[in-house]
Amino acid sequence: MKLQAITDNFQEANVEALAVAVFKDEKPSSGFLKELDTLIGGHISSIIKTDEFKGESGDTAYFLFEPNGKGKASRLLLIGAGDRESYNASEIAVLAGTAARNLRKRNIKSFALAARSDGDAADAATNAATGVIASHFELDKYKTDDKNDKKIDTFVLYVESGDAKDLKDALTRGEIIGDSMNFTRDLANEPPNVLHPTEMAKRAEKMAKEVGLKCEILDESKMEKLGMGSLLSVSKGSAQPAKFIVLRYEPKKSTGKKGELLALVGKGITFDTGGISIKPAEGMDAMKYDMSGGATVIGTMRAIGLLKPTVPVLGIVAAVENMPGSAATRPSDIVTASNGKTVEILNTDAEGRLVLADAVVYAEKQGATRIVDMATLTGAVIIALGDLNTAVLGNDQDLINEIIECGKEMGENFWQLPIGKEYSKAIKSDIADIKNIGGGRKAGTIIGAVFIQEFIKDAKWAHLDIAGTAWSDDAKPHRSKGPTAVAVRTLLKLVEKSQ
Ligand code: BES
Ligand code: MN
Ligand code: ZN
Repeated sequence: MKLQAITDNFQEANVEALAVAVFKDEKPSSGFLKELDTLIGGHISSIIKTDEFKGESGDTAYFLFEPNGKGKASRLLLIGAGDRESYNASEIAVLAGTAARNLRKRNIKSFALAARSDGDAADAATNAATGVIASHFELDKYKTDDKNDKKIDTFVLYVESGDAKDLKDALTRGEIIGDSMNFTRDLANEPPNVLHPTEMAKRAEKMAKEVGLKCEILDESKMEKLGMGSLLSVSKGSAQPAKFIVLRYEPKKSTGKKGELLALVGKGITFDTGGISIKPAEGMDAMKYDMSGGATVIGTMRAIGLLKPTVPVLGIVAAVENMPGSAATRPSDIVTASNGKTVEILNTDAEGRLVLADAVVYAEKQGATRIVDMATLTGAVIIALGDLNTAVLGNDQDLINEIIECGKEMGENFWQLPIGKEYSKAIKSDIADIKNIGGGRKAGTIIGAVFIQEFIKDAKWAHLDIAGTAWSDDAKPHRSKGPTAVAVRTLLKLVEKSQ
């Protein structure tokens, strides 16, 4: 896609359509909107007088008009931007995505967007490009017919002022972020017969080569040598061997504090049948996305490789298939993790925490001082927060606050749940150090987190339970249904701020 930024002559952009953000209750009585209103013969004033378009976010209105001789555009799309006061950069991504999806449907290939933010123009450009690119993701990869292949080929962003080079760079950053989100979503969307642990590792390796990251894949014998009995217990029932994916980004010149290393750790269960504690048939197909946390790590690392921040980042994915084969782990088995702790496995469907246990131990052994893990860990988080907030828990309030703050900036919601000694009591085992489930159904998301905490030594740690937010059951005006690439943008912001 061609991405371009302009600072004047919006109406004369060389595109088929103009898209314009309109605020709630905004009247085209002066300035920018008035000029457009005149251009299209007063239709903006007319529609604003009706109930059809109020500038609420989600509102759209579409007009055809005679080009005025200067520009070639003959279509205008108004997009509601909601309250002017709360309008921020991340909303520009939604707005740009909404415009792109709307115009693609009409077979339009090029458009210019007036996002109308008074904030930083480069920020607006990054978000607009992210939104337009991310809005192109479709679920139809495996359709042989009836594909949605209508694409925008030229996107022009209009901002009031800004340095041309800065804006160009900002658009490129947005393109990298949008492409990396779509890369994440493609991984999450793959069927589990295609994307087993070996394939997930291959995709990570190929990506690493393309963007210049170091990549190391540990096989099961290496994992055994490292004593990863907890992770390997999950893989036992599967014909597919587990793969432990390690991605490393090291900047040429680091500006971070010496010795500081951020690790992103993802649950990569390529399919979760539940194992011997097998899941009911209904809805089991959704468990192909049980590797979304891992996909987020790989996609975020892709963006990091291309954006080249000045701090090092370690990316780790425990890629494992949870199947009930004859060699599978049984409820009541006891295994030893790589930090020496023994775990009584009472439910083989609580497998995410088992693979993350060895993954966070590895991260810390590699020098990680801050660890953020991402996992579709518990059904309980869907009951608690639905699909609107990702749960965040951890041992360091500053890190948690930073994640919540970065999320706000990027339009992703995180909500903190507590942890603590009283909760940790629930996973004490009678015959091993700990067990992998609590007593009953109480505080399921917290129990999952405190289990992982048992494997953190000194690092600052935050856990993101994305079971409710990694997949969207319905399409939105700015994105298709399916995998959401949740947390990619927030994590990139976190990395950016650690520079
Ligand atoms: N992958 C599931 C959690 C999940 C459920 C993700 C629904 C997305 C949608 C996880 O491995 C799991 O099975 N968790 C169990 C834990 C329980 C056995 C303690 C759960 O949440 O029921
Ligand atoms: Mn499970
Ligand atoms: Zn799972």
